[in-house]
Amino acid sequence: MVEAPIRAFAIATVFWGVVGFLVGVTIASELAWPLLNLDLEWTTFGRLRPVHTSAVIFAFGGNALICTSLYVVQKTCRARLFGGEDMGWFLFWGYQFFIVTAALGYVLGVTQGKEYAEPEWYVDLFLTVVWVAYLIAFGGTILRRQEPHIYVANWFYLAFIITIAMLHLVNNAALPVGGGSGQSYIVWSGVQDAMIQWWYGHNAVGFFLTAGFLGMMYYFIPKQAERPVYSYRLSIVHFWTLIFLYIWAGPHHLHYTALPDWAQTLGMVFSIVLWMPSWGGMINGLMTLSGAWDKLRTNPALRFSVTAVGFYGMSTFEGPVMSIKAVNSLSHYTDWTIGHVHSGAMGWVGFITFGAMYYLFPKLWRKSALYSEKLVSWHFWLATLGIVFYITAMWVSGIMQGLMWRSYDELGFLQYSFVETVAAMHPYYVIRMFGGLLYLSGALIMVYNLWKTVRSEALAEQAYAAQPGFAPAAAE
Ligand code: HEM
Ligand code: HEM
Repeated sequence: MVEAPIRAFAIATVFWGVVGFLVGVTIASELAWPLLNLDLEWTTFGRLRPVHTSAVIFAFGGNALICTSLYVVQKTCRARLFGGEDMGWFLFWGYQFFIVTAALGYVLGVTQGKEYAEPEWYVDLFLTVVWVAYLIAFGGTILRRQEPHIYVANWFYLAFIITIAMLHLVNNAALPVGGGSGQSYIVWSGVQDAMIQWWYGHNAVGFFLTAGFLGMMYYFIPKQAERPVYSYRLSIVHFWTLIFLYIWAGPHHLHYTALPDWAQTLGMVFSIVLWMPSWGGMINGLMTLSGAWDKLRTNPALRFSVTAVGFYGMSTFEGPVMSIKAVNSLSHYTDWTIGHVHSGAMGWVGFITFGAMYYLFPKLWRKSALYSEKLVSWHFWLATLGIVFYITAMWVSGIMQGLMWRSYDELGFLQYSFVETVAAMHPYYVIRMFGGLLYLSGALIMVYNLWKTVRSEALAEQAYAAQPGFAPAAAE
């Protein structure tokens, strides 16, 4: 089994996680106290916001996905990574180079201005090369498998890799402008551009932040609970319904715009239907623990994975509600959306990744256990409290903001000026920043715990290397 690049991806996941959360806390502070941008163009909210979103989604999330997918595919196929160590290292350094060049562009103001697709054409082209190599490595490993069956986690990972390739190519079709500016014009225009952008944006949520992490859920929860998946049949139904439905839901981001009304309604209907497979998947993840619920008391890392599935259920219930046009007329443009995003992002994506990292670090570094289970508990409670502060503050602030915008006096004039709504949000922005700080402190505790795990001689386990699938001879 090729392991060294996977170790590097695991370290990068934790590193970029801390960077992303730190920039999150920074921009949350800037929203509460705008003076903190120091009046410099590089540190304005507008430039740092995409640094945060890309750092948490593509750097933290992306490294976690590549790390776990390369591990899971080798373990479940009982096959060595296609392309071997060289391929692993190419993917690792290629992906880190992509992250750094993208972030540099944002800070310097070189961006396409498309949310979640900000990098300019030269970064996009480079990422395409790395992504194709990733597809070849992953697909090639599946093809050389020694198991007759392709385990369901690999289905989710493969759907994530293929769909992201398609979205990336279509949404970034652009003509570079000369003069060495590094900038370009998107080939799509007007409402078609908006439609393609949100077809991309929503499916980035569906396939990057959901399908790939479901792959993680289907491997790591059964492993941590030492139980098989509750229903294999349900996991297949979950897969096909999710893949079929997600791709149509993008227009719910464009309610009440120039997009034809029928397209908006189509997006709404598919979003509502999407609730069912999402909850089917959640039930499958949670029920995997039947007969093993007591493990939650003894295994704090499993607590992360299971709570993640709870947050997945929560955000996939909230999403369909927000896609209803009447609800969206209140929630759109407000902090309610930000609250929804972070219950999914911090609760689902963050927690399932922490659970997987706590499982993987001892395995990858041949240790019998984590350095401290108690510190995992501390991380868990700090992060959970942080999310609760963050999302409740955003719900209150968002609904208040929406209601203030649409409130009229008896003569039919707007009751509040825009600046009054901004002032009313200030206390909630402070609470959100505090929640973020708790989440970040939890992550720092994780870094310490994982570092001590890796460095600990006392935890070194010789016998581990002899386990099937891990000994280099068995993996060939
Ligand atoms: C310490 C934790 C975090 C803090 C303090 C934080 C803070 C913020 C802030 C202040 C914004 C801008 C909100 C606005 O424009 O009004 C934001 C946006 C965003 N964050 Fe975070 N964040 C954190 C963690 C995460 C994580 C872990 C993820 C994903 C895995 C994430 C994904 C996003 C996304 C996608 C947006 C854009 C939302 C939108 O445009 O609707 N964040 N975050
Ligand atoms: C059944 C599943 C889901 C549905 C139907 C759904 C629906 C929605 C809706 C209606 C919006 C607001 C659009 C707007 O008013 O502009 C939204 C925003 C968003 N959702 Fe979800 N959601 C779902 C699950 C999730 C999950 C699990 C995550 C994260 C892991 C997530 C991340 C986001 C992000 C990042 C945005 C903000 C996009 C932006 O404007 O920048 N969603 N979602």
